[in-house]
Amino acid sequence: MKITFQGHSCFSIKSDSGSIIIDPFLTGNPQATIDPSDVEVDAVLVTHGHADHIGDAIEIATANRVQIIAPFELVNYCIAKGAEGHHMHIGGAYDFDFGRIKLTIAHHGSTVEGEGAVGNPCGFLVTMDGKTAYHAGDTGLFSDMALIGDTNSIDIAMLPIGDNFTMGMDDAVRAVEMLKPKVVIPMHYNTFEVIEQDPEEFKEMLRGAATHVRILAPGESIDI
Ligand code: NI
Ligand code: MN
Repeated sequence: MKITFQGHSCFSIKSDSGSIIIDPFLTGNPQATIDPSDVEVDAVLVTHGHADHIGDAIEIATANRVQIIAPFELVNYCIAKGAEGHHMHIGGAYDFDFGRIKLTIAHHGSTVEGEGAVGNPCGFLVTMDGKTAYHAGDTGLFSDMALIGDTNSIDIAMLPIGDNFTMGMDDAVRAVEMLKPKVVIPMHYNTFEVIEQDPEEFKEMLRGAATHVRILAPGESIDI
């Protein structure tokens, strides 16, 4: 499993069985290193409707002729905009050709600008080639992360640290303690002034912990 960071909360994940992109906020993302028209994937996963997450999802899914995988109401919105979609909801998992996706809770909102609410936000557990990645989406800390950690062997977790809209670093450390991933990648920071953080500080806070903190620069990848 190869995970590439595209800044903010956007990651592409590639394995022998296929490739996906999560929260493809590329247009208008100052950290993005690729153009949406260059993205080739088997599915587009979206955690919630906010512009910094849905981003270029509809364009990418349409150009690749692949489905958008997201909570039910958000998929309805995407279908209304001309994309194809696979409806899912919190707690549900499905085996796709490229791997298994399970939706987790996320404590946050989910609106599309000018459209209003599009259901609940989510996080994703992605299992491909025997490896499991957890993308928390936008969320505050919640104690059910202990349940997620107990019921899944998480190889790599992508957690927000930006504060203001999501968990900050203190809470992200608590999240790591509950999720027990082998590796954690911080996300959702430094894109905007209000979420400026020093990820090295997060790394320092987890020094000596069983979980390894890996800070990815935009465009950088990790193989697990
Ligand atoms: Ni959001
Ligand atoms: Mn966000």
